Amino acid sequence: MKTPPPIDDAFAEYAELARTQGTQTATPGSTAPAAPAPQPKPDEFKYIGKATPRVDGRMVVTGAARYTHDLAFGDMLIGKILRSPHACADLVSIDLSGALALPGVKAALKLKEGRIRWAGEPVAAVAAVSESRAEEALALIKVEYKPLPHVTAPDKAMEAGAPLVQDQGNVIKSNDYARGDVEKGFKEADVVLERTYKTSWEVHQPTETHGSVARWDGDDLTVWDSTQAVQSIRDGLARALSIPAGRVKVLKHYMGGGFGSKLNLGDYTVTAAKLAKETGRPVKITLTRRENSICVGYRPTAWMTVKAGARKDGTLTALSVKSYNCGGVGRGDRVSEPYSDMYACPNVKIEEFSVFVNACASRATRAPGHTQATLGLEGMMEELAAALGMDPLALRMKNFAAKDKGDTGIPYSTKGLEQCYKLGSEKIGWDRRNKKPGGGSGKVRTGLGMASQIWPGAGAPGTLADVKLYPDGSVEVECGTQDIGTGTRTHIAVVAAETLGLEPKDIIVHIGNSDLPWAPISGGSMTTPSVAPAVRDAALKAAEHLKNLASKKLGLPPAEIVLENRKAASKADPTKAIELKELARGLPRPLPFHGERSNYPSTFAFQTFGVQFAEVEVDTETGKIKVKKVVAAHDIGRVINRQTAESQVLGGVVQGMSAALFEEKIMDPRTGTMVNPNYHDYKVATAMDIPEIVPLFADVIDERLNNLGAKGLGEPGRIPASACIANAVYNALGVHVREIPMTPARVLAALKRKEARP
Ligand code: MOS
Repeated sequence: MKTPPPIDDAFAEYAELARTQGTQTATPGSTAPAAPAPQPKPDEFKYIGKATPRVDGRMVVTGAARYTHDLAFGDMLIGKILRSPHACADLVSIDLSGALALPGVKAALKLKEGRIRWAGEPVAAVAAVSESRAEEALALIKVEYKPLPHVTAPDKAMEAGAPLVQDQGNVIKSNDYARGDVEKGFKEADVVLERTYKTSWEVHQPTETHGSVARWDGDDLTVWDSTQAVQSIRDGLARALSIPAGRVKVLKHYMGGGFGSKLNLGDYTVTAAKLAKETGRPVKITLTRRENSICVGYRPTAWMTVKAGARKDGTLTALSVKSYNCGGVGRGDRVSEPYSDMYACPNVKIEEFSVFVNACASRATRAPGHTQATLGLEGMMEELAAALGMDPLALRMKNFAAKDKGDTGIPYSTKGLEQCYKLGSEKIGWDRRNKKPGGGSGKVRTGLGMASQIWPGAGAPGTLADVKLYPDGSVEVECGTQDIGTGTRTHIAVVAAETLGLEPKDIIVHIGNSDLPWAPISGGSMTTPSVAPAVRDAALKAAEHLKNLASKKLGLPPAEIVLENRKAASKADPTKAIELKELARGLPRPLPFHGERSNYPSTFAFQTFGVQFAEVEVDTETGKIKVKKVVAAHDIGRVINRQTAESQVLGGVVQGMSAALFEEKIMDPRTGTMVNPNYHDYKVATAMDIPEIVPLFADVIDERLNNLGAKGLGEPGRIPASACIANAVYNALGVHVREIPMTPARVLAALKRKEARP
């Protein structure tokens, strides 16, 4: 029997990266310190923990920052990809001769043979002297397809006799988790509820669509890529092209968003490199908004049936989840972790299934699995609280887990969730909620809802950074990380400046280049807790060197010297000082100091935590929801830069609100393609929709985690945002919509469901 083709599983790779953050993973031959250095108290820092504007903010807003889209070389060609119009077909033949005969077309490639499984799958590509010439060339490629039946809706794909999407079948078991005995647990419960919650396909919609420019210099390949992962794109490209990794350099200086869709190596990137090789000229491929909507992933759906049992006092006795996750031709996300980890519950059973349909494979999307799970888990907690007649916050506190795996595993090193509950509930005025969901009256109802969050974000041990001191007094930091829009350059400048007694603007930061010291992908909320400690480690070594130099000049022991205000000065007598610039003149040559992020103890669990509270107004006649306010309180360890940290939370809340109210990739069952692949038909929240958002931080410094006690924040702000809004709508209406986006039609249908109840 023929082995079935491998199923695209972007989530597995991603989940592995996210999961291993919480375990000890020593770099082979690592010189990393085994344990973090002792930490200053927050008020001992001048910049760390305070708000620093982005060091490159001016460049970004004035258009001076160069994005992959902006790149152009004199002899550069434009590449375009021909894509299958059929959602399922056998490819019979491809004839490139018409395209190659067109003047200005420099190369054409076949990209596919055999079975096409989704509308938009790459079939062939061309490189031409202009975009319009490349488009003309695509039209001249003759492709013969044998169309086959397709299926694009998960419920239809599960029916007997549905067209087979994967040879393994359209539904496969993808995850099994169990602890305790749920049947016994449900028997011990005073209240048992079972509910089904659904999420939609949510497209990442980065402002800058995906794109790459490839250029060869002899055997060496340079690729400018709009990516979240310069290092792993380098490795992936080398594998795809069968060339040594050392011959590939990946650059990414600025990007207009990724949200997970730019973690993977793109077929357009490999194609640009192949076309560049064939033509001997640089080739640029930029996806259109339509291609971006159809071809590079989305958040998979999860249809989660959640059953929970609790005693009268709110103690959870059992939780079972059955989830059908649909990620097109790829596996959907695994949603189990919030269910298994968030609350103390001895009996848990989770079964997950991947459902396959004819659409491109999903990709990791800002907190893959967790946002879906949080809608179901936290929706259930809210409905359970109502059934028990309890305050939903008290129900969460009742089942608080101090150890991982729902209080059955190892202890959390720090867990500032109680502080977050206190900060957030006070700020929103939790007492203002309807004590009984739907207790209000009138045409427009108001409600308050909450949702908690858990997510790894511990960072990757083994991350490297160099701090280089130059004899002219300048200071450079080099790290092979990247800024995906979160402010990486700024936090690097803040940490280096703080440690060396300089100002953030004094630090020259070089990132976004795969030749620089290794750093992980910018995904999984990993960047800051990986990079900042490595920079701190390197800067501490540089600071020690400077103190030793100053010690000779000032005639003081190094321990009596501090670096501040651009000087090395006596702790006791600040008038005894020497300018750092002056001191640097004594350097014989530029001196690099190597830093590495430490390991952390495997005897503790590390996660980020948080809670968001939302206030909504719902018009019961039109079904329209208006989000009035969201208070977001998060425990992310030590905040490195308060300004960019707050930005992350604002962005996460907006994205979550947008998913809760508007976002849905809609497929046409007949043609098998997406019907809303643009910003007009695919609704994304705009400035007009954005509520008041209050970001708060618990500031619990995790001293075991790294030398700054910092955790990550890319994802936490997104995780509870849709769920707290759905719960606020429940609090307003007394009926849970249970499906996002909560369109007016779904809200009105939910209200009808309520009226139909006895
Ligand atoms: Mo992500 S889904 O960590 O970019």
